[in-house]
Amino acid sequence: MRRSLFTQNAPRGRFRSMENNRRTVTCGGLNIDDVGKSVTLNGWIHRNRDHGGVHFINLRDRYGITQAVIDEDAPEALRQTAAELRMEFCVAVVGEVRARPDGMVNPDMATGAVEVAIKKLEILNTCPTLPFMVDGEDEANENLRLKHRYLDLRTDGMQRRIKMRHDATWAVRNYLVENGFWEVETPTLIKSTPEGARDYLVPSRVNPGRFYALPQSPQLYKQILMAGGTDRYYQIARCYRDEDARGDRQPEFTQIDLEMSFASRDDVLELVEGMMVRTFKDVLDYTVPVPFPRMSWQDAMDTYGTDKPDLRFAMEFRDFSPFVPGSDFGVFKSVLESGGAVKAMVVEGAAESYSRKKISDLEETAKSRGAKGLAWMKVTSEGLDGGVSKFYADQAEAIRKSMEASDGDLILLMGAEWKTAVEALGAVRSRLGKDLGLAKPGDFKFCWVIDFPLFEKNEEDGGWEPAHHMFSMPQQRFLENMEENPGEVLGDLYDMVLNGNELASGSVRIHDPVIQSRIFDIVGFPKEEAEERFGFLLEAFRYGAPPHAGLAVGFDRMVMVMAQVDTIRDVIAFPKNTQGVSPMDESPSPVDSEQLADLKLALIEDGKED
Ligand code: AMO
Repeated sequence: MRRSLFTQNAPRGRFRSMENNRRTVTCGGLNIDDVGKSVTLNGWIHRNRDHGGVHFINLRDRYGITQAVIDEDAPEALRQTAAELRMEFCVAVVGEVRARPDGMVNPDMATGAVEVAIKKLEILNTCPTLPFMVDGEDEANENLRLKHRYLDLRTDGMQRRIKMRHDATWAVRNYLVENGFWEVETPTLIKSTPEGARDYLVPSRVNPGRFYALPQSPQLYKQILMAGGTDRYYQIARCYRDEDARGDRQPEFTQIDLEMSFASRDDVLELVEGMMVRTFKDVLDYTVPVPFPRMSWQDAMDTYGTDKPDLRFAMEFRDFSPFVPGSDFGVFKSVLESGGAVKAMVVEGAAESYSRKKISDLEETAKSRGAKGLAWMKVTSEGLDGGVSKFYADQAEAIRKSMEASDGDLILLMGAEWKTAVEALGAVRSRLGKDLGLAKPGDFKFCWVIDFPLFEKNEEDGGWEPAHHMFSMPQQRFLENMEENPGEVLGDLYDMVLNGNELASGSVRIHDPVIQSRIFDIVGFPKEEAEERFGFLLEAFRYGAPPHAGLAVGFDRMVMVMAQVDTIRDVIAFPKNTQGVSPMDESPSPVDSEQLADLKLALIEDGKED
């Protein structure tokens, strides 16, 4: 009797190679028409069970799952090999396709009408006890999943998402190439880029004391490509930012980066809408309506309290200030007197389900965004009830009308300095969206947010800093006097928002060196430093650079929303965890002192040199 290869003591490679074991069909490829065929399958043991002498195996590969069976009367050698099988062993199966007996057909499985009667079984590799089940997505701790990413990548969920990502890349590339874009690679060892996060630095061994930066984005290079006459550029570009990893942020992420010469804002928006239509159609067979609604930054903030509104549900803010003067509620009065805002939001039908306790939970959300509190009242058939309603009894009918509220609605009110008021109420709105399940799964609502302020006040030193980056064009009407009141200058900036996520950002660029240096002056960027850091860009602009505009889509975020998962880690094959660590390869890791010496670097610990 021949013993199975697994039990033979052959230390130099116990397992069969692919010779004579190569698959003739994948685990997703068989159906009733194949009955009677001899086939070879390769894959992993997904399920493995012995039913009173009949051994059932579910064999899995990327393409699907096939049931294979060792019958009771199979030769002893085969039965012995089968007894050695454990979950995730990698095997080759040779056998004959047969129809499953009546009552055993599984309509939920693509291959569910057939099974393979095993004639030969080879173990290609074994697998120790699993740290978590590959079958279905069990609730394994994420660090464990990341440590054994090769196992996690075998799960159905990861396989679907990695494929979705691939499909999306393919759709984007096809679309952009059809629209005349060239894919150009830009360097990843560069001089620091100005996106506003910290750079990752790479020491140069041959130039001791000098460092490359990893690009935060290809921004400067794509603008130089425009100066170089490339006309339409794109790149599925890897970007690096030394910032804390969060659900929608990774230190290393991917952008669909693009730039167009002789193009206006609307050319970019239209092109990108087309790209979304194509991608959602090709990948999800979902029809995205175009054009996307556009709203100014001011309107987005006033209406939704965020520059990335989730439009899957309404709950728009209303102005409550007309009702403030006619009431004795002092808090709102003093807010208005000091130039603040009083905003209201109607939560449909929530009067009954929202107890004081639940409302004070919402208040905590508002407080976490800087608000001092959250006022409320309920709408009943008798008027207004509870909370601050007694202060507004006289105006009940007018309030109800103006808020378009009905019996049983809850009205939430927020009074504070304008930005705090809208942002805090915005946080409450998004929390309610989740708590009340207002967003339908599988619904995708895009919009453009446009007309952003070009500059923001730096809270620390009171100076101006670019809201996006320093290469965005002020809108024409502000050009003349932008130095007078930088806070009022709007830029030709745009963000694409999907279901409450900022998916893309871009702008019309400055191509005029004079405007560029005025911007540097406003943000207090010394000319010498500008010259030293971006002199090459300014120089390029002097040589007849064309007007240009562009944008970058956060590719991981886009796939995350498409896949309806909560973190971009779930759509990246090898992400870092929230501490910026890869538990699988344990990077970042210490380096030995010789490597440091080669680079002429020394480590400082506790403020002292090592
Ligand atoms: P911005 O910095 O807004 O613009 O980035 C563009 C888009 O990239 C995504 N994104 C991220 N995704 C994952 N992890 C991160 N750490 C991360 N940071 C940003 C977001 C964002 O909207 N050069 C400009 C684009 C341009 O002006 O053309 C830029 O990089 O979805």
